[in-house]
Amino acid sequence: MCDKKEASKRYTGKNILAPMVRIGTLPSRLLALKYGADLAYCEELIDFRFAECHRVENPILGTVDFLQDKDSRPMFQTCSEERDKVVLQIGTADAQRALQVAKLVENDVSGIDVNMGCPKEYSTKGGMGAALLRNPEKVKEILTTLVKGVSIPVTCKIRLLPKLEETIELVKLIESTGVVAIGVHGRLKEERPRHPVHSNMIKKIAETVSIPVIANGGSDDIIKQYKDIERFKQLTGASSVMIARSAQWNMSVFRKEGLLSTDDVVKDYLKYAIKYNNHFINCKFCIQEILRDKQESPMGKQLRSSSSLREICCIWGMEEEYDAAEKRRNELRVKLGLVDDKSLEPDAKRIKRSDIVEMNFQIKRCEYDLKKNKTPKTILYEYTLKEELKPPFYTTECRSTDRHFQSIVTVNGKKYKTTSWERNKKLAEQSAAIVCLRTLGIDDGRMAPIDRKVPSQSTTRPKFVKLSSTT
Ligand code: FNR
Repeated sequence: MCDKKEASKRYTGKNILAPMVRIGTLPSRLLALKYGADLAYCEELIDFRFAECHRVENPILGTVDFLQDKDSRPMFQTCSEERDKVVLQIGTADAQRALQVAKLVENDVSGIDVNMGCPKEYSTKGGMGAALLRNPEKVKEILTTLVKGVSIPVTCKIRLLPKLEETIELVKLIESTGVVAIGVHGRLKEERPRHPVHSNMIKKIAETVSIPVIANGGSDDIIKQYKDIERFKQLTGASSVMIARSAQWNMSVFRKEGLLSTDDVVKDYLKYAIKYNNHFINCKFCIQEILRDKQESPMGKQLRSSSSLREICCIWGMEEEYDAAEKRRNELRVKLGLVDDKSLEPDAKRIKRSDIVEMNFQIKRCEYDLKKNKTPKTILYEYTLKEELKPPFYTTECRSTDRHFQSIVTVNGKKYKTTSWERNKKLAEQSAAIVCLRTLGIDDGRMAPIDRKVPSQSTTRPKFVKLSSTT
């Protein structure tokens, strides 16, 4: 168990980068810390997936990677630069599994947080996220198991319940488990970011408990730049402030000296992305969030059509930095005997690898209307017509061991594929088309369930509604 008094100090008077799916990866966290954040939470990691990971030290990047299998991208990646400042957030509904995950990362992170605020159905239907707010017994079990079982500080992040008294009751229960601090997102489960944050409710909570309260929910309305953080702190009476959206849009919100321009922030972000060879799709997403309403600017359009990290670096004139980092990594690979140097000399291998955009996902038939004329393949075909490009060209491989298929689609000289294998050729081609569309930032026609009220016993299939490609 950790020294609670000492640990609580680490959550007092601090400015913290909030957990954010897809945003909270290594380059963003390092950027927040560079600009002045005291702690940085990673994106939420779901316990049963994370429990399958292996810890691997990556000598090329100098990182610690948690991998599901040896060829996959890390589910969580960290490094010594953030060792004392990174907090791992878990999505869980099971105390023992949460402990298993916490033990796995205990020596590589500075704290563990349990997400009790996620309102999304994928989280709540498994009893995780905001579902925990209505399950105090489970909350107690998870938090006490973690507090007893790991040597680093444990915290949790909640939303408000409709009545102040019930929120206070929950918060007192949480305090009694021995957590060192509590994050409070000042909105109800049903409220969206556009709804005003209930600073007064956070204040009531802060007055009730003796552990530090980390106020969250002030982006946009209240916090736009560094000097606003203090105002939110005063409004909520909290010890610390946690920032999500304002940081996602401009990480220099943590900078005492004030905001930096979008270009400066993107360039600083890219330095970390290059250093840690961050995944291209993740970089693209994070930079699109920074560009925000500049998506239609010349740089925004170039970003949309980029298909590798190097191409993104070119947009901001950083290709030399990228090439130098790649060269250093390749030399290190050779030095460590991880690759034969002949394969690197003609550059061919490198080009071949970065030439194909790969995504790791499996197409779900129910999410796409594959019978009508708005399939990903048709959307892609229409796109090539509109842009006056050659029609998409598909090549498909069949794996002899299980007769599964994988396709590569070529559009405008670039190749796109998934890492997964499909049961038939048609699905494999649709998957490749989806990778291409998503990379180009075009809506791939994916649908999502709208009928949240389908009774659990019902055999009726939920209806589906069209989603934008970024959701
Ligand atoms: C979030 N949020 C969130 N919260 C959490 O506990 N775990 C998570 O993984 C995520 N993921 C996430 C992704 C994105 C893109 C956004 C915008 C938000 C919620 C977030 O941490 C925060 O509670 C809210 O955004 C409110 O804080 P701000 O944005 O007002 O500072």
